[in-house]
Amino acid sequence: MKDFIEIADFFDTQLLALIQRAIGDKKLFLAGQLPATCPRKTLALIFEKPSLRTRVSFETGIVQLGGAAVYLTDADIGLGKREPVKDVARVLGRMCDGIVARTFSHQAVAELASYSERPVINALTDYSHPCQAMADVMTAVETFGDVRGLKLAFVGDGNNVARSLAMLCVKLGMDFALACPKGYELEADFASKLTDCPGRFSQTNDPAVAAAGASVVYTDTWVSMGQEKEAAERVATFKGFQINADLMAKANKNAVVMHCLPAYRGNEITDEIMERHAATIFAEAENRLHFQRTLVNVLLAEGGVR
Ligand code: CP
Ligand code: NVA
Repeated sequence: MKDFIEIADFFDTQLLALIQRAIGDKKLFLAGQLPATCPRKTLALIFEKPSLRTRVSFETGIVQLGGAAVYLTDADIGLGKREPVKDVARVLGRMCDGIVARTFSHQAVAELASYSERPVINALTDYSHPCQAMADVMTAVETFGDVRGLKLAFVGDGNNVARSLAMLCVKLGMDFALACPKGYELEADFASKLTDCPGRFSQTNDPAVAAAGASVVYTDTWVSMGQEKEAAERVATFKGFQINADLMAKANKNAVVMHCLPAYRGNEITDEIMERHAATIFAEAENRLHFQRTLVNVLLAEGGVR
């Protein structure tokens, strides 16, 4: 597999092997023993939306492998406006060794992948955020060891982050329960793709139902990038879908809290819970670097995911 676009594109065994590899590479890196396997390789980073973690982790990761990054905003290249996506893909595919893209339209990333001769990585679209999901489950594996049979409660919007994480969890045998207001569930045709997986997928409008028996309680912003105009309405609708001490009392005693960040304290999570679970939440953020460095290495230096 040349690209990393969707969790659904990979077998459970490939996904677990990538996570285990990232955990091993992280240990080597922290011991100063990870080889620089991408000398003189360049990674084009196309970002139509803001980013802290994703940009810094890809830029830092490729440098740690001996290569370099070229950061391109929409103002620089006007993807699909200044020139067609398929032309950008073919130019970057000839000049760079890989393309990382964060776009509004999911189709744009898929089109980059189909026209570029080089690997393309989805760095978040309106539809999905697979690198985030991989770093999240990597953190769960580091915390709990075997994650099969564990329940993850996702309290908040049925959005891009929820979609990728749901797919990954159930493929790897975890139960994924989404609690969201009516109308914000993951769509039925997506949910139907999860029924054959070893883990159980469920959706409820009651956060307490999702949190019961959960080992991981997860949230994301109520207002994703591009939804700023809906902010006031969303904040009102999602009240009651907050991770706070009352909700955590419903989860397992040893439950951890995860957040993909950025966090909006007082909305989807209280400051108290953020600070109490800071060790897990910032390990999760750090794992974006470790997972993506491994992913870049596998795609750019090893010919893709096998
Ligand atoms: N979680 C995440 O993707 O963060 P950024 O938007 O800052 O990259
Ligand atoms: N759902 C959020 C994730 C941010 C990392 C967004 O798309 O803005």
